[in-house]
Amino acid sequence: MGRFPDGTCRVAVTEGEVEMEHNGGITDEDVAEGYILSCCSTPKTHLVVDY
Ligand code: FES
Repeated sequence: MGRFPDGTCRVAVTEGEVEMEHNGGITDEDVAEGYILSCCSTPKTHLVVDY
């Protein structure tokens, strides 16, 4: 992740789960809609993402 999270790595998870540790760059609404920041997420299952 860059020094200032900017959200450019945002992707939508369509299947699976991740653990995300971020310092900004994504809104609560984005998260509620299934988006993650791929730079600071760790897959917990097999994933399918849309970007
Ligand atoms: S690369 Fe900027 S938030 Fe992930």
